[in-house]
Amino acid sequence: MSAIHLLRKLSRNPPSRLLHRNLFPSTFSLDLPPDLARTTLIRPFSNHPTIFNNTHTLIPFWVSEKTKSLSVSLREFSTSVVETNTSDKTFERVVGLNPNPLVIERIHRDEETIGESVSRGGENEVEKKSDESVVREESEAEKEAWRILEEAVVRYCGSPVGTVAANDPGDKLPLNYDQVFIRDFVPSALAFLLKGQGEIVRNFLLHTLQLQSWEKTVDCYSPGQGLMPASFKVRTVALDENTTEEVLDPDFGESAIGRVAPVDSGLWWIILLRAYGKLTGDFSLQERIDVQTGIKLIMNLCLADGFDMFPTLLVTDGSCMIDRRMGIHGHPLEIQSLFYSALRCSREMLSVNDSSNNLVRAINNRLSALSFHIREYYWVDIKKINEIYRYKTEEYSTDATNKFNIYPEQIPPWLMDWIPEQGGYLLGNLQPAHMDFRFFTLGNFWSVVSSLSTPKQNEAILNLIEAKWDDIIGHMPLKICYPALEYDDWRIITGSDPKNTPWSYHNSGSWPTLLWQFTLACMKMGRPELAEKALALAEKRLMADRWPEYYDTRSGKFIGKQSRLYQTWTVAGFLTSKLLLANPEMASKLFWEEDYELLDICVCGLSKSGRKKCSRVAAKTQILVR
Ligand code: GLC
Repeated sequence: MSAIHLLRKLSRNPPSRLLHRNLFPSTFSLDLPPDLARTTLIRPFSNHPTIFNNTHTLIPFWVSEKTKSLSVSLREFSTSVVETNTSDKTFERVVGLNPNPLVIERIHRDEETIGESVSRGGENEVEKKSDESVVREESEAEKEAWRILEEAVVRYCGSPVGTVAANDPGDKLPLNYDQVFIRDFVPSALAFLLKGQGEIVRNFLLHTLQLQSWEKTVDCYSPGQGLMPASFKVRTVALDENTTEEVLDPDFGESAIGRVAPVDSGLWWIILLRAYGKLTGDFSLQERIDVQTGIKLIMNLCLADGFDMFPTLLVTDGSCMIDRRMGIHGHPLEIQSLFYSALRCSREMLSVNDSSNNLVRAINNRLSALSFHIREYYWVDIKKINEIYRYKTEEYSTDATNKFNIYPEQIPPWLMDWIPEQGGYLLGNLQPAHMDFRFFTLGNFWSVVSSLSTPKQNEAILNLIEAKWDDIIGHMPLKICYPALEYDDWRIITGSDPKNTPWSYHNSGSWPTLLWQFTLACMKMGRPELAEKALALAEKRLMADRWPEYYDTRSGKFIGKQSRLYQTWTVAGFLTSKLLLANPEMASKLFWEEDYELLDICVCGLSKSGRKKCSRVAAKTQILVR
């Protein structure tokens, strides 16, 4: 029996509800023999002289990658650019392909030909930079932010394992804000990694991995194996009169308000695992057998067969950052873009062998189908809206134009006025006879970052943000979605949720934590000035306002009605944005370029056969040719 099978078998018989310290020592030993070639060549992150001093006044400028290029492994090329070309012209239009991708990606990075601009300089420029060691003075806000972030660190048996969601001293009812949330920890982790502190992230990844194989039940029903918790807490329990011990207590949704499923947790875990490798150069973590098994369990859960007709992941309402009822059940964009990123990360990180071959094939197929589906059917701009406006309905055929039977009356009146001449975005959700036209920020930014959307679409998304700056950014970046659900929509769709009243919280509140994702998207597209402008706005207020979780009103003028103060991911999002902007080369390790290999995969085989047409080839898109 292979080691992986054995581990799987073991993890079907998990330990008791609360994890016993003795089962899980706080220092980690590597299961696998170190990859000598790699470890000898990679500079240990924590030994970096500037970082090791750990002073908060001076920040190292991360450019010294020259040495690493010697040890560069395949995973350094996250784009997986291959020397393939598609000959199918229709398909090219759909996927936004350039006939000579290799030249563009590797040599010219020519913005004109494909529109995927790149924030990095030419080779010489990078080399020049790598010799510099620029030191930047921290602002008062940054200094305070680091202090708060460090105070938010949670320890388990003496080791740092995460950060609490909020540390508001005035909050008498913290609910679960005193827990470590998987999604909330991501910006904290990136801030630590960009500062050269990898230990907390490594510990977090390994501890949450242990929680994955938990025995979890909600009213005697067990959700799928591989599910990652939404959050966990370190509890001290009494063993007897004199002794206590610390245990980790996860929440898989069984205590969460509304019993929402944390679908995004596993996806974020995989994304963070890759980021850890990329930013520290320590790939031994992702190579461990238990970590490989963890990736596989999450992927198997996501790729399990069901009744679905679409390659998008079908989820219930509130299964991501928006963890309350907000009408995002079905195929919400946020989950799809995180899913796509996690698939790309897994493809990079999984060791290919007999036991993973089938999974890797399934991942490739899904990546290809998913990107086609989103690019083709989720995209809206002025032209597409006009098309929908003139849609014929009730078309029964395989090559219908209006595939999902969308009634044009669904186009909301606000959108007709709002959509700019330049720019576009990906829909919030798509289901039979249903398009959710709201703009969801995280999903759109993460599509840019992961190249789920085409290079042209990526540009158009940033153009839209620029054109609609007052609506999406206003006084405080960034609106979680736009516009708010009001009146009957609010009553019916949120179930009259008093926390999600119009222009508050998840219902179009402004969330400063989203800054880091915006920064990454802007940097990828070579437009860091947009991020700088937003960051400057946030910096003016966040410290004075005591780092709120969210802001309210149409323009984000007021601190949110029920907003926590000293919210960790507000603090961490701010710091991560600062660090990314200061370290473009590190930032570039966190996003993906177009993957031409994926665009060529079409598994249905219909394109070559006579009578039936492959729907991808038959797709009559006019979206991407302009
Ligand atoms: C709220 C947010 C959720 C976050 C949690 C902890 O429930 O909606 O996304 O993870 O607070 O900050």
